[in-house]
Amino acid sequence: MKILFLNGPNLNLLGTREPEIYGRTTLADIEATVRAEATKAGAAIDFRQSNVEGELVTWIQQSKGAFDVIVINAAAYTHTSVALRDAISATGVPTIEIHLSNVHAREEFRHKSLMAPVCKGQICGFGQESYLLGLQAALSLKPN
Ligand code: DQA
Repeated sequence: MKILFLNGPNLNLLGTREPEIYGRTTLADIEATVRAEATKAGAAIDFRQSNVEGELVTWIQQSKGAFDVIVINAAAYTHTSVALRDAISATGVPTIEIHLSNVHAREEFRHKSLMAPVCKGQICGFGQESYLLGLQAALSLKPN
C-alpha cells in the first residue's frame, strides 16, 4: 500500500512553534516515526510539507493512480481552502484528515473543516500520535 502524507503551512516550524499546543517534536521526527511504523506494516509512504496552497492542490491531483490513501494535516488551510477540498473530491483518493491539536476545543474558526465532508474521517487532538493513528486508519482502508 502507498500512502501520501501531506502537511500544510507552518508545520515546518513544529518543535519551536507554540510548543504548549503542538509539542516539541519536529516534523522530521514525526516523519521518521511514521516511516518506521509504515515499513513494519509493509506500506510505502511519501511525506511532504508545503506552505503553498497550490502546491498541495497539485500533489493531491497527482496522487490519483500513484497512492492508495492520503493522510493530510492541512493546518490552517483546513479552515479556509475550497481548493483543497475540491482537489480531494475531484481526485477521489480516499483521504484521512488529521490534526495534532483538538481543533474543536480551540477557537471557533478552527471548528469548521471545509475538507471533512470529503474525507473518510478525522483524527485530532492526540499530538504526534495523530499521525500514527492516521497511518493506522490508512492501513485499514483496502486499496481500490
Ligand atoms: C493544526 C490545527 C490548525 O487549526 C492550525 O491552523 C495548524 C495545525 C493541528 O495540527 O493541530 O496549523 O492543523
